[in-house]
Amino acid sequence: MSRRPFICGNWKMHTGRREAVELAREVAGGLDSVRDVDVAVAPPHPWLVEVARALEGGSVRVSAQNCHNEEKGAFTGEVSTAMLKEAGCSYVIVGHSERRAQFGEDDIFVGRKVRSVLAAGLSPILCVGETLEEREAGRTVDVVERQVKGGLADVDQVKLPTVTIAYEPVWAIGTGKTATPGQAQEVHLAIRDLLRSIGGNDAAGAMRIQYGGSVKADNAANLLSQPDVDGALVGGASLAAESFIAIVRAAAG
Ligand code: 13P
Repeated sequence: MSRRPFICGNWKMHTGRREAVELAREVAGGLDSVRDVDVAVAPPHPWLVEVARALEGGSVRVSAQNCHNEEKGAFTGEVSTAMLKEAGCSYVIVGHSERRAQFGEDDIFVGRKVRSVLAAGLSPILCVGETLEEREAGRTVDVVERQVKGGLADVDQVKLPTVTIAYEPVWAIGTGKTATPGQAQEVHLAIRDLLRSIGGNDAAGAMRIQYGGSVKADNAANLLSQPDVDGALVGGASLAAESFIAIVRAAAG
């Protein structure tokens, strides 16, 4: 089954207000002629509304970088999926390794968030990936499978095709050390097999698996040429319109 490539730029805790809106506009302007790729940008929460407004009417969508799973209540500093929807988001990144490592998010919490994103009618981008230590111990597939199973626990089967998995090896994030296309494909294939056992052939065939970790304009085409690499979750290179646009163009083929 052929899947429409999906490229998302994760701006993390970068950009000021004006910079965010300008970057979003530049990205949208540079992609006017690009078809057949889904594109989203994920600004910090305070800029979501303005970025969404700047992108209104175009094809570039907005993603949040995180959410809470509860609908409302005494959760100081947290943001619900209904709020993110109202702010103009289509996607929410869930379980990023920075959140797992620095904010103690475990598979159970991540699974709750995924279900909350889906319940709000938004699409989750579920991040998984092993540390260098786990890779060197030969545990990559075990770790990633555990994270995918936890993230997709109790998800309504009908909604599975709207979930994107982002395989982001922790050792490749922000390090300039990209996984080789072969390393990425090996893990993506293992994830695809697991998705088949969880949701059946159709869901597994429809679900996009992005690669993330030092994706740049000059390595994107090689990574995206792999049969189970359906897109990219881009950090650093999404902060400059030119490099992000080049990555999207690589996905357009
Ligand atoms: P870099 O592209 O900066 O390595 O970041 C990847 C990432 O964490 C995207 O979510």
